[in-house]
Amino acid sequence: MTSESFNGSSVPNHVAIIMDGNGRWAKQRGLPRIKGHENGAESVRAIIKACRNAGVKYLTLYAFSIENWVRPRAEITALMGLLKRFLTNEEHELHENKVRLRVTGQLADLPKAVQAGLRNVMGRTKDYQEGQLILALSYGGRREIAHAVREIARRVKQGSIDPEDVDEDLVSANLYLPDVPDPDLLIRTSGEMRLSNFLLWQVSYSELYVTDVLWPDFREEQFKEALAEYAHRNRRYGDIE
Ligand code: FPP
Repeated sequence: MTSESFNGSSVPNHVAIIMDGNGRWAKQRGLPRIKGHENGAESVRAIIKACRNAGVKYLTLYAFSIENWVRPRAEITALMGLLKRFLTNEEHELHENKVRLRVTGQLADLPKAVQAGLRNVMGRTKDYQEGQLILALSYGGRREIAHAVREIARRVKQGSIDPEDVDEDLVSANLYLPDVPDPDLLIRTSGEMRLSNFLLWQVSYSELYVTDVLWPDFREEQFKEALAEYAHRNRRYGDIE
């Protein structure tokens, strides 16, 4: 069975990306880490466009993990500033292309001004149907699963569901963005073979693609290589050939 016959398309519907290597990119050039993030933000722009060109409907980007809060304050501030600038500069692209912006993670952890910027753009794009750009911010996969378990436990306590009714679909339905389909393809840049607490529940059957290319160098050409590799994969979901 080919991926084409199995999921109806050789183009992934949902691509999730662990954007890694900004720091190393900067270090290789003797630049401060923030320069790596700035150039990483350019890659974000390029990949959003590449998704549109390729027909990828959902793009989830791991922009800031729960674990990233331990980074130096100056780096966190710079990253939050980049995010705000990105929202200001890119909002028109979302409108032009009817792309909805969403956040997965703990939005309330972010600085108030960033939260406000995100909420504004999310509100103004909420009815768009052409695609979704999902930013994982203050996100942790275990945290998300714990959230789902907590919600389910609450309903069991209320008596509205029976413990016997707890199944995979119910857990999925209680994740942060239950209507978003699981990623078909998970990309990680800069060579590390780790999931780093990203979408742990959702990537159970995703194809993994790890490249040594550092995130600031990952542009449309590199993205197309990942899509080409995906198109050749044989997704069996536990079945046989
Ligand atoms: C990983 O590189 C990257 C991040 C922790 C942040 C990702 C942020 C951006 C790409 C820029 C802004 C985002 C948006 C959505 C505009 P690293 O710093 O861990 O690199 P290293 O492992 O080489 O040190």
